[in-house]
Amino acid sequence: MPKQSMPKESLNISPASVNDYRRLAEKRLPRQFFDYIDGASYQETTAHENLRAFDKLKLKQRILKDVSDVQTGCNLLGKDLDMPLVLAPVGLAGCYARRGEVQVLKAANNANVPFCLSTVGICSIEELAAQASAPFWFQLYVIKDRSFAIDLMQRAAKAGCDTLVFTVDLPVLGERYRDIRNGLSGGYNWLGGLKRGWDIVSHTSWLWDVAIRGKPLVFGSLSEAVPDANSLGDFKGWVDSQFDPSMTWKDLDWIRENWSGKIVIKGILDKEDAKQAVGVGADAIVVSNHGGRQLDGVPATLDVLPEIVEAVNKKCEIIVDGGIRSGLDLVKAIALGADACMIGRAWAYALAARGEQGVTHVIDIIKNEMKVAMALTGVTRVEDIDQKILGEG
Ligand code: FNR
Repeated sequence: MPKQSMPKESLNISPASVNDYRRLAEKRLPRQFFDYIDGASYQETTAHENLRAFDKLKLKQRILKDVSDVQTGCNLLGKDLDMPLVLAPVGLAGCYARRGEVQVLKAANNANVPFCLSTVGICSIEELAAQASAPFWFQLYVIKDRSFAIDLMQRAAKAGCDTLVFTVDLPVLGERYRDIRNGLSGGYNWLGGLKRGWDIVSHTSWLWDVAIRGKPLVFGSLSEAVPDANSLGDFKGWVDSQFDPSMTWKDLDWIRENWSGKIVIKGILDKEDAKQAVGVGADAIVVSNHGGRQLDGVPATLDVLPEIVEAVNKKCEIIVDGGIRSGLDLVKAIALGADACMIGRAWAYALAARGEQGVTHVIDIIKNEMKVAMALTGVTRVEDIDQKILGEG
């Protein structure tokens, strides 16, 4: 899903943008894992819309406004951050780089931005806690086995997580054609198995670094729930069967009873749902279409953000994700009323390409782009970014 690609005539010595990291990730990863990150559901229309919405929105250049001291710092959910950025929960990160979630956590801690561990991370809550120098967030899919969900929340609290991200846009799974074609989901056939095996062994540096030295490749936090699992496929089978389509707003009371920290509801695209989230006491919501990975055909998150901002009326904080590939995108989202942005694929590409160093670089790239966008639109503080910095379409 390139927004812009590296020009062929460049020397390509050093990655300069998130999209350069996308290209590097494509080279390093077995196809099935690159496609798992890069792909989206059905025709991938919504995933493309997420990118297009940022391209369509224009910034307004202003001049001679003393921009000698631009600051990207902000406060989110009571914490001072170096910039309004959160690293989104992304499953299977330990398959992109050796003990991937730990590497991302370290990059996030050093940059003073939050990292959110996915329910389906390769590294467990406890493995992350042992390496964390600041609290991380934990993302929960509510699974049918409620006692195990309570156990996960208790483990997260014990590990020092202060924020629970409750993902609500996955009562059923959207189909991703690339995963079916690559044999990552759907039925097994021997020819497919052979091709997948070749895909793995032909990526030798990844094979040695991740598949061999990065073991165990299991869903770390779930290993007690699926004790008989021998492969990632076994775990995936269990998780897929555990998504709970009977969940309703009432279940938020149950979450509140079992979690005393901040609660963030992720996967809101509708203003009435946003109001309901405020009603049940969410501390923040994430305006998200799961990066276009669930219901293809829903609008870009940037397009629904303004009406949700209006409906929420500052009663909780608003994070937005989907299609953010640069600091310029981030500034546009803040201008439309978001308090912060989440990035998913941007950090996943960087992790796959260059591990912790890559994620640190991508955060740095986004921060520098953000500073330049602020300076050239004439603002020096995050709280001053608003609709005034946006230009005519
Ligand atoms: C995701 N996302 C996701 N969300 C979640 O709540 N739990 C999860 O385990 C995952 N897993 C996951 C895997 C991969 C490979 C991707 C790309 C995404 C969704 C993620 O948190 C976020 O909403 C999107 O990634 C945002 O869109 P961008 O930034 O990727 O365009």
